[in-house]
Amino acid sequence: MIVVTGATGQYGSEVIEHLLRRGVPATQIVAAVRAPAKATALAAMGVEVRHADYDRPETLPLAFAGADKLMLVSSTGSDPVRIAQHRAIIDAAAKAEAGLVAYTSVTRATTNPMTSARVHRDTEQALTDAGLPTVLLRNGWYTENHTAILPDAVARGTIVGSAGQGQIASATRSDLAEAAAVVLTLDDQAGKIYDLTGDTAWTMPELAAACAAQTGKPVTYTDLPAERYWQILIHAGLPSHTADLIVDADLYISQGALAHIAGDLSLLLERPATPLTTVVARMLGT
Ligand SMILES: NC(=O)c1ccc[n+]([C@@H]2O[C@H](COP(=O)([O-])OP(=O)(O)OC[C@H]3O[C@@H](n4cnc5c(N)ncnc54)[C@H](OP(=O)(O)O)[C@@H]3O)[C@@H](O)[C@H]2O)c1
Repeated sequence: MIVVTGATGQYGSEVIEHLLRRGVPATQIVAAVRAPAKATALAAMGVEVRHADYDRPETLPLAFAGADKLMLVSSTGSDPVRIAQHRAIIDAAAKAEAGLVAYTSVTRATTNPMTSARVHRDTEQALTDAGLPTVLLRNGWYTENHTAILPDAVARGTIVGSAGQGQIASATRSDLAEAAAVVLTLDDQAGKIYDLTGDTAWTMPELAAACAAQTGKPVTYTDLPAERYWQILIHAGLPSHTADLIVDADLYISQGALAHIAGDLSLLLERPATPLTTVVARMLGT
């Protein structure tokens, strides 16, 4: 049986969709979720829904009972809370004697300088310390992190950020979720590490150029000092810890932190990763 945490989230729900598409029977999948009331679509597909709140460790052992494989989807929120949540999940996975834990880590986890990478390094270490059979899915940056704002940006004629000319070898969330489903359906995955990036890297000015080319409207990239970009994000209503993470990411991107292209994603998918232009077209309806 395959248990997927965070299954009402965007990535977790896509992992389950890809598992079903790959022929895993719904009866062999458990959706472990914080709010079972949000999981009616999963239940309607025949997937068993169990309550698993990372903040309530007592819910986790029952949720993970019988897991041959556990897809641990990293939590959201601020770092000290996240690592405590991940440790609780790992404890429960060990108690449930999960046969394999697949963890959504971050690309180049051991050397990635981004602040958001720390929790993934710590979680990888906690998995090792627990002695659990683990496969690491070191996910690259979601392309969607930069494309959700495109309709508004095109209307304004500019995309703003602090990423400079830094290259981003991003991948779509769906490709990353499909890769997870592939790994979860393969044998002998314990000890494996997959670095899952897109096949090509792009820059923010190239993203603006792609928008201009696809819409026929002028769209440019405006690079801002970090403080100014942070203020814009706060003004747009983002919580300060989210604005911190976005600006931090952009500054590291400008220094090349996400430029690395790994190749494991297209190998697992047995096809090229979805390119930026496809996501831009989808977002802009072009
Ligand atoms: N690679 C990247 O660029 C990137 C970008 C953003 C995030 N991430 C990481 O990848 C993960 C998956 O991404 P996503 O796009 O699927 O994010 P998402 O849509 O926000 O999903 C996050 C999932 O985590 C669940 N969750 C949060 N706190 C929880 C708790 N206390 N107990 C149980 N479940 C909890 C949420 O449950 P609810 O459905 O109840 O809210 C949701 O299902 C994120 O959580 C984050 O760690 C990676």
